[in-house]
Parts: sequence; structure tokens; C-alpha cells
Amino acid sequence: MILIVGGAGYIGAHINKQLNNNGYETIVFDNLSYGHEDFVKWGIFERGDLGNINEIRKIFQKYPITAVMQFAAFTYVGESVEDPQKYYINNVCNTLNLIKVMLEFDVKTLVFSSTCATYGNPIEIPITETHPQNPISPYGYGKLMVETILSDYSNAYNLRYVSLRYFNAAGADPDSEIGELHNPETHLIPLILDAASGKRSDIKIFGTDYDTPDGTCVRDYIHVTDLADAHLKALQYLENGGKSDYFNLGNGNGFSVLEVIEKAREITRKEINAVEDKRRHGDPPILIGSSDKVRNILKWEPKYHDLSQIVETAWKWHKKISNKF
Ligand code: UFG
Repeated sequence: MILIVGGAGYIGAHINKQLNNNGYETIVFDNLSYGHEDFVKWGIFERGDLGNINEIRKIFQKYPITAVMQFAAFTYVGESVEDPQKYYINNVCNTLNLIKVMLEFDVKTLVFSSTCATYGNPIEIPITETHPQNPISPYGYGKLMVETILSDYSNAYNLRYVSLRYFNAAGADPDSEIGELHNPETHLIPLILDAASGKRSDIKIFGTDYDTPDGTCVRDYIHVTDLADAHLKALQYLENGGKSDYFNLGNGNGFSVLEVIEKAREITRKEINAVEDKRRHGDPPILIGSSDKVRNILKWEPKYHDLSQIVETAWKWHKKISNKF
């Protein structure tokens, strides 16, 4: 069985669906601090906290776990600057608890959710996996620390892991069974859709004077179902004896904030009021990842690489849940 830690969250829930659709049995372990119990539509749900190592041990005693996927982490970059302890304890120390128990139970296969924030401000675009890692936030540092620890553990204890460095996860399950739902919401696409549906009056554009073609920030949006597919492939790669490795997960394409807003206007057919605002602290102008390595080694091919598909699935989900939450 596969243990999905943080499987009640946006990304973990999509991976849980993908694994179950491909014949895996899963256990979701989540403390529901940010996750949603009704996102656990597949597999077994066990509520628990990585901060309590005995709760983790109980899960490993109860189920025949063969591999672990770790999604449980706080992800607000700005908050990590204001309250780094919250991030280092949860994202680093609690992950170490998880791996400690894995080793105690001789479970040595791990897929880890990392981030392009480990690169910091890019010195070249597209960002490849050999790009220097100089994070600019405690969030990014915490993820890099875990990557470093995984590498040492891999050498010393024969832990085999794949670390996936996500660019901007976006979109929703095409069947709308699950989707993006954060509280507070800070991500561009859901906020634009809130503006489209009248849940907010406008979308603020954080900076229009960047050195980019239209002056707004450019990001590499990757559909969450494609992201889920990459996790499945990473798991299969490790199950087939693949060595520890790390991969970018992006589309290799960039879209500006203005382009995303325009696409949302086209798809929703709503007027979306966009208001120019000042830059948000810590935003690199352009983040685009090279996906050559993951394509070559894991044979991953994105199916929803079009921005339209990303916004369409997000909009379908948005309409479904608008009245519910
Ligand atoms: N943006 C706006 N207005 C908003 C919200 C966002 O203009 O109301 C802009 C941001 O400035 C940024 C782009 O839209 O240029 C995307 O912003 P998101 O907040 O959706 O995503 P980020 O690029 O900030 O965050 C992503 C991941 C993080 C990761 C980070 C690394 O979600 O997990 O990249 O920089 F850490």
C-alpha cells in the first residue's frame, strides 16, 4: 500500500485519485490543518499529525506500506518569511519524523514534493535541474534542506527517493471531483476566477514594470493532473529499481499574469476587472522550468499543457464549489 501524507490537500488528492485509478491501494494521512476530508474520495483516511511520531508509527504498524509520498507542507512563501519557525518545524522536522519511521519499518521508497522555490532568483531560463539552488525564502530553504537530507540518507541508508520540483501547479481534476481550494487563497488562477464569478471585485496585478514582454510576471503553469501523472511515473520508476533523483515539473512554457487574465476572460466569458498594483515582495520576474529531464527519464508527457485546459478545468471546478464553500 502507498502512504500519501498530506493526501487531503490540493495536490495530494489528485495524486491519490491517479494512484487508485492505476490499481494502487492508498492510505491518506493528513492532519486536516489545510486539507479537506471530503477530498479523500479514494483509499483509506487516517487523520494524524507528523509532529507526533507515535501516530506515524501506528500507521506503519497497521498497514503493509511499501512506499510513501510526502505532500504535507505549508506553502505560503510570504508567511514563511514572517514566521520561519512554523515552516522549518512542519516542513523539515516533521518530514524527518516521517522518514525516521520509514527507516524503522524498512520502507525505503519516497516521492517528495519539492519546489522551484529552491532555485531562488533564476540566473538563466529555462531553469534546468543543474541550476544553482539559492532560495530566497524560508519556504524554499526548508524544501532544499529536505532535498539535501534525502541525498545524505540515500547514500547512508539506501533510501531511494524522487524529489519533484513543481513550478506553478494549477487547474483541477477534469471530472471536477477535486480541485484547488485554499484558505486563504493566494494563487493567481483561483483568485481570477473569484473575480469572474463576483466573489471578489477584482484581481490585483502584482507589478506591471517587470522586465518581461508585457511587464507582468511570467510563470510556468502545470496542470495538476499532469503533475499527478508524473508522481505515478516517479513511483513506478522507484519500484523498478530506479536510483534516487530529482526532476523539475513544469511545462517549459511561460504565461504572463496578463495572459492568464485574458485567457480567463475568454473561457469564462465574464468581464474580469484587473487592477494594477505594486510588486509583491519576493516574486521573480520569470520562472520557467525545463522539463527535458523528466520527459527523458520518467517518459512523462503533459496532456493538459494548454493554458486553456488549465483554466477550463479550474473554472468547471470553481463553478461546482462556488455555492458549497
Ligand atoms: N499574482 C498577481 N495577483 C494575485 C496573485 C498572484 O498578480 O492576486 C501574480 C504573482 O505576483 C505571480 C503570479 O501571479 O507573478 C503567480 O502567483 P501565484 O501566487 O499563483 O504563484 P507563485 O508563482 O507565487 O507561487 C508558486 C508556487 C509556490 C512556489 C512559488 C515559487 O505556488 O509554491 O511559485 O516562487 F513556492
